Amino acid sequence: MKNSDKYKMRVMVTGGAGFIGSNLLLHLVSHYPDYLFVNVDDLTYAGNPANLSSIESSQNYCFEKINICDYKPLSACFNIYNINAVIHLAAETHVDRSILEPAEFIQTNITGTFNLLECSRTASEACDKFRFHFISTDEIYGSRLSGSFDELSPFSPNSPYAASKAAGNHLVRSYHKTYGLETVISISSNNYGPFQFPEKLIPLIISNAKQGKELPVYGDGQQVRDWLHVSDHCQAIDLVFHQGQNGHSYNISSSDESTNLALVKQICQLLEDFNEAVDCEKLIKFVTDRPGHDQRYSLDSSKIRTELNWKPQYSLETGLRETIKWYLDNSEWLKNCSNGDYLKYYDNNYSNR
Ligand code: NAD
Ligand code: TYD
Repeated sequence: MKNSDKYKMRVMVTGGAGFIGSNLLLHLVSHYPDYLFVNVDDLTYAGNPANLSSIESSQNYCFEKINICDYKPLSACFNIYNINAVIHLAAETHVDRSILEPAEFIQTNITGTFNLLECSRTASEACDKFRFHFISTDEIYGSRLSGSFDELSPFSPNSPYAASKAAGNHLVRSYHKTYGLETVISISSNNYGPFQFPEKLIPLIISNAKQGKELPVYGDGQQVRDWLHVSDHCQAIDLVFHQGQNGHSYNISSSDESTNLALVKQICQLLEDFNEAVDCEKLIKFVTDRPGHDQRYSLDSSKIRTELNWKPQYSLETGLRETIKWYLDNSEWLKNCSNGDYLKYYDNNYSNR
């Protein structure tokens, strides 16, 4: 158990073993040695603590395996570490799973968020300054064919995942308005980069193409997504967490839009450039469309750009090339995700601690 007293901030990061959470913790733990980071994650299929092996023994980092839907251990964790800030990422995140089995999304994304807000409300009463940062998604605004959504656009979620995240936004807003809890919300577009679980489009296509498997494209592949490199997202989270105005929301996007089909073809071309595939586009298979599939997401991120001086460092071209190289260099990581070996990491490394 870490002694939390000496740290200026005791930050609970939920979902830190997931894709964005891992990238975020790798950034924060090294940049803020005077903060303690408590990673609260229940290690669902999407949690991979091996992502964090390089900071596992850092003084200012610790891991707590807790389900955010379980109020008692969650509340105890707030007390033990004297938590005075939360960055809340833990969620069920895959739209296709939310269509097949929505119940877990309602539990984690709504009840789990509610539990964290309740614990934060209590903890905030016992300290001078407390901050709750909710990590949200562009999917809450729904789809639009032209123009983009700003922070005042109404919510119009179309999948159970999107609806459960929108509910999280509403709860956070209500705790700010009703109880005066200090909150910020950041709302980002589709992320890509290292450590993304290969059920999401970009790592799935890389993984399948490498193995000569079919590359599934939903419907006609003309849906548009706005791709953001995860490291640009983490820089933005750092800024919003530290400098975002209390009670405000910030959209985060690079405005690098692509149709799914064009993106899959771009990945094929890059894999061929790396000599990892031949005639890769032949593997593209148009499959039955996702029900309620959003045609286009697009965010207006001028608020964070002007207010907090953020801008993305990666173009989609550069980010995609670097990401493909990462997956090629980390083929063992990808293999462990596919065969389930990553699920053994916690038992092998944490059970005796
Ligand atoms: P992910 O699916 O890779 O990781 C989710 C993490 O949450 C996992 O480590 C999992 O074990 C943990 N978790 C799930 N249920 C839990 C529970 N009940 N208790 C404790 N831990 C639990 O997700 P991600 O892609 O890293 O997304 C992180 C956050 O960012 C989510 O809130 C998501 O809505 C948001 N977001 C993601 C994207 C994206 O493109 N990936 C874009 C915008 C916003
Ligand atoms: P995904 O990575 O699941 O993110 P989201 O649904 O949150 O946008 O999917 C990105 C886009 O790619 C989305 O329009 C659905 C599409 N897609 C496919 O065409 N084939 C696939 O196998 C997957 C997983 C997604």
